[in-house]
Amino acid sequence: MEQKKILEGENQRDQFNSRLGFVLATAGSAIGLGNIWRFPYIVGENGGGAFLFVYMGILILMGVSLLLVEFVIGRNGGTNAIDSYVKINPKAKWVGWLGFITAFVFLSYYSVVGGWTLFYTLSSLTGTVIKVAPADMGAFFGNFISSPIAPLIFHFIFMGLTMGIILGGISGGIEKYSKILMPALFVMMIALVIRAVTLDGAMEGIKWYLTPDFSKITSGTIVSAMGQVFFTLSVGMSGMVTYASYLSKEEKLPVIGTQVAFADTLIAIISGFIIFPVLFASGVAPAQGVGLVFITLPMVFSQMPLGGVFSFLFFALLSVAALTSAISILEMPVTTLIEKKKMTRKKATFLVGCITYVMGIAVSLGFGAWSGFNLFGMDIFGVFDYFGSNISLPLGTLGAALTIGWMWNKNDALKELTNDGAYSIGIAKIWFYVVRYLIPITIIMVFLLNIGIL
Ligand code: PHE
Repeated sequence: MEQKKILEGENQRDQFNSRLGFVLATAGSAIGLGNIWRFPYIVGENGGGAFLFVYMGILILMGVSLLLVEFVIGRNGGTNAIDSYVKINPKAKWVGWLGFITAFVFLSYYSVVGGWTLFYTLSSLTGTVIKVAPADMGAFFGNFISSPIAPLIFHFIFMGLTMGIILGGISGGIEKYSKILMPALFVMMIALVIRAVTLDGAMEGIKWYLTPDFSKITSGTIVSAMGQVFFTLSVGMSGMVTYASYLSKEEKLPVIGTQVAFADTLIAIISGFIIFPVLFASGVAPAQGVGLVFITLPMVFSQMPLGGVFSFLFFALLSVAALTSAISILEMPVTTLIEKKKMTRKKATFLVGCITYVMGIAVSLGFGAWSGFNLFGMDIFGVFDYFGSNISLPLGTLGAALTIGWMWNKNDALKELTNDGAYSIGIAKIWFYVVRYLIPITIIMVFLLNIGIL
């Protein structure tokens, strides 16, 4: 710790110590509430298999390429996201700043929901949750999130844990904890999916999940699918730019990008195999919004042998996933403040942590005391989520792709991607054209669809 401080003071940047450490940290950022909490309810709201189809299409066409865009910008820069953009082209500076603002928005509500997961983990441990009668589960959740104090305490604890890890820096914080938390996440996930698919009636859920009904695909489906792809891969907010800026020049970016996208997709798909069988086995409809995993799953757990154990496993899984993503959101503005405003890591962490905690209070009260708030039919959480996922991430992603495709020179971009031509350049060229044409055109089209012009 002491030594690291001295290093930072001398402007020697910390680094990920190992490739595995970076892959786990990056996968940890990608795999989060987005995969286990958001993905299933978005699938539920958008008609199951049909949504999955569109989602996979966007993911395959753009997913890995987008991760590589942020990796290339970050590693080339070797500094905070804003300066990494400036290094390529000063005109691209706004993309970094947009990410900086978006980080505050995301972290504030992420930490509130992270707090809910901690509360449910604890209440599973004490047995409180599964003692609630299934019919009262909705009220149990509603009472908790709308109460003025309890959710704020858990929001506080979640933010504190996130800050605690970030205070340790890259290798001593993010890398160290990702190496412990991510393997734990995989183990819990396997235990849960085995339980879920062996339930009576599980098949119904799997069928609904996998059978596409194309009549359900509307422009709204495509917008949601794209927002979900960006959200789940953590692209568009420069979080990945920040992580990659701490990566050594020897690592092969395309390999890492593919591994991370694969792991992230696998976990999202597996979450569906946990949640939909469980829902259908208990005869509950899948479209339930933000409460889906907090109401319906505990209902089922409460009816199951060893339900308390599975409930604990599930919410501990969700908490871990949330924590490893929250740290990547916090690290982005922290690195920026350390390097641009010459703050110490401690000061930057406390500053961002406190501001986002206060913003989170508004989000949390939006479910209770301030539930009267309404903007275009959305509550405070809805506004934050919509701004973050459906506006800011696509815009940030567009900016990142344009930076590489149009504001840099092709050779420099390819050199960074291939470690100075150390390996195959063929695929790298395809990547460049995807970034230059396909990604911007798709984002702009979806945006026009969204506002009703197409
Ligand atoms: N990818 C994270 C998730 O799926 C959320 C996230 C978005 C994290 C943007 C960092 C940046 O939950």
